[in-house]
Amino acid sequence: MINVLFAARSERWDTYEAPLRAAFAKARLDVDLRTEFAPEEVDYIVYAPNSEVQDFTPYTRCKAVLNLWAGVEAITGNETLTQPLARMVDPGLTNGMVEWVTGHTLRHHLGMDRHITGQTGEWVVTTPPLARERRVTILGIGALGASCAHALTGLGFPVTGWSRSPKDVSGITCLHGDDGLKQALETADILILLLPDTPATQNVINAEALSRMPKGAFIINPGRGPLIDDDALIAALDSGQIAHATLDVFRVEPLPADHPFWAHPKVTVTPHIAAETRPETASEVIAENIQRGEAGQPFLNLVDRARGY
Ligand code: NDP
Ligand code: OXD
Repeated sequence: MINVLFAARSERWDTYEAPLRAAFAKARLDVDLRTEFAPEEVDYIVYAPNSEVQDFTPYTRCKAVLNLWAGVEAITGNETLTQPLARMVDPGLTNGMVEWVTGHTLRHHLGMDRHITGQTGEWVVTTPPLARERRVTILGIGALGASCAHALTGLGFPVTGWSRSPKDVSGITCLHGDDGLKQALETADILILLLPDTPATQNVINAEALSRMPKGAFIINPGRGPLIDDDALIAALDSGQIAHATLDVFRVEPLPADHPFWAHPKVTVTPHIAAETRPETASEVIAENIQRGEAGQPFLNLVDRARGY
């Protein structure tokens, strides 16, 4: 019997219990799944960073912590966590992110707001450029960024991706390093942020970065709030350097009611809903990782603590 602790807020148990049990049965895993165990009896922890479990020291038998979220910045600094940590790469979450990013990219590309909020009684015809004439840059071409890049190239957008290590992704101009970032920003008519929050990525979009972008560019941030210097972004929006920012993630969440982003006419705030882990598909990923752990195979989607993602 494999003891699996579900350590997340109680409302999550209601949505995950049945899909997890189904996935374990499908994978022929003999699992005792519960929300409480004596720590020394636990083999795996299915984990959300806002759960009550913050001290992993007593989980002496635990073979891996399997995160329900893609982002791991809230856990990588936890020094009590010495067990392997896997982040979530879930096909359902990826589909959600591709749809959200594509929708907001097309909104800005087509200038949809003109007709949604600008009904003035005047018959003004404006023709948007074709996708092939609008350059998109994605910072972070991992599981999510690469999938978004493929969807956008499929619509005809020329896409440039920037990553930490050199990459070769078919159909995408791949850049890395400091010089690569400069080049990626210079061609970013639409900039999409899908980087993790690590010490190396914080404030990557600062005043200098914003000034490198084409005037009137758009920013879409479903990555993490600390990627952007908020004050620099507001200054760039006010000067017209940036036409609009669609932001799903913030330094403080929920975004405080008095934060200037709420009332800014060139900012769209969405409440961290770009992509949610989907219980059915995510449960299968968790079952596969437990299967691997039991078979002595390497875990999928392991986090490199030194890199922070
Ligand atoms: P991955 O780890 O698969 O990809 C991360 C990408 O960022 C990689 O391409 C990586 O480069 C690149 N990167 C990391 N550090 C640097 C750096 N210092 N310089 C340049 N590139 C860097 O993550 P995912 O695609 O799965 O997720 C990305 C982020 O999306 C998550 O960390 C999370 O913050 C956010 N997210 C937001 C959600 C929402 O609802 N708003 C939902 C889910 C995730 P390399 O390829 O070289 O390693
Ligand atoms: C995640 C998120 O990291 O929801 O999965 O942001």
